[in-house]
Amino acid sequence: MNVYQPFRVRVEEKIEETADTRTLKLKFLDPDVAAKFDFKAGQFGEYSVFGSGECTFCIASSPTRKGYIECSFKTVGKVTSAMKDLEVGDVMGFRGPYGNAFPMEKMHGANVVFIAGGIGLAPVRCVIWNVLDERAKFKDVTIVYGARTVADLVYKRELEDWGKRPDVKLWTTVDPGGETPDWKGQVGFVPSIVEKAAPVADNSWAVICGPPVMIKYTLPVLKKMGFTEDRILTTLENRMKCGIGKCGRCNIGPVYVCKDGPVFTAAEMAKLPNEF
Ligand SMILES: Cc1cc2nc3c(=O)[nH]c(=O)nc-3n(C[C@H](O)[C@H](O)[C@H](O)COP(=O)(O)OP(=O)(O)OC[C@H]3O[C@@H](n4cnc5c(N)ncnc54)[C@H](O)[C@@H]3O)c2cc1C
Ligand code: FES
Repeated sequence: MNVYQPFRVRVEEKIEETADTRTLKLKFLDPDVAAKFDFKAGQFGEYSVFGSGECTFCIASSPTRKGYIECSFKTVGKVTSAMKDLEVGDVMGFRGPYGNAFPMEKMHGANVVFIAGGIGLAPVRCVIWNVLDERAKFKDVTIVYGARTVADLVYKRELEDWGKRPDVKLWTTVDPGGETPDWKGQVGFVPSIVEKAAPVADNSWAVICGPPVMIKYTLPVLKKMGFTEDRILTTLENRMKCGIGKCGRCNIGPVYVCKDGPVFTAAEMAKLPNEF
């Protein structure tokens, strides 16, 4: 079997999240693949547009919701521009799932704090869905999500749903100047909103994903609150090609982000060579 041969998937739904970000819901064409396909929260895949190439995205839907996968992507270059033009019914490629996953079982019985910025909500959303679909297995759920402006917030319909749930504490924020007159969320950078949300650190895990600058300034806030580095999880987005540990494109020293990651604890990240 050729490990680089993608499964064929059909676009079932296309959602315009923001001016430059879309979500595609994809279903496998081969019924055998559709029946057997499984993945874990945090894994990623190589998505391809025939004739344009491949690119790497997390699987943004949850393994608790069977029969399809979703990806959310920002249009930045060649393949993402080709993906932007796909319509419902079009066929594209997917190979995966690849990489490690979030330690969902270890998180059972604990509080979970999700912190995301911009399109960084895509990998975090997969874990949020997973946790909410198995809500009884977890304690308090806090979500802090920020974007530059109101127009840049992704998954607006889900933010609304999560905001209505009594078992979720949702904090949404936009950078100063990014608010609209009717904005009801917070105004401020993510680290300061995490401080305001003040999640308890005892028996808690933090899942964080977003721009490096957001992560850089949020980690000290979490540590000050008492979160330990082995309970802070993030997912890295190093450039990849093969996705399966063969091409050497993604490695940081001896660590292959595609195979050893993309999910790492802050303790593991601290040991990586000086690229972070
Ligand atoms: C594990 C993993 C998960 C990812 N998940 C998502 C996701 O859910 N949604 C999403 O929108 N993106 C995600 N990315 C980033 C995504 O892979 C790239 O944005 C995408 O490959 C760009 O493809 P392209 O052909 O359109 O761009 P290209 O034409 O290849 O590049 C366009 C520009 O973007 C830069 N670029 C491309 N890839 C990266 C990268 N990985 N890091 C920094 N700069 C880059 C290039 O240097 C160039 O300037 C993920 C990356 C990884 C490794
Ligand atoms: S992407 Fe090829 S080795 Fe990691």
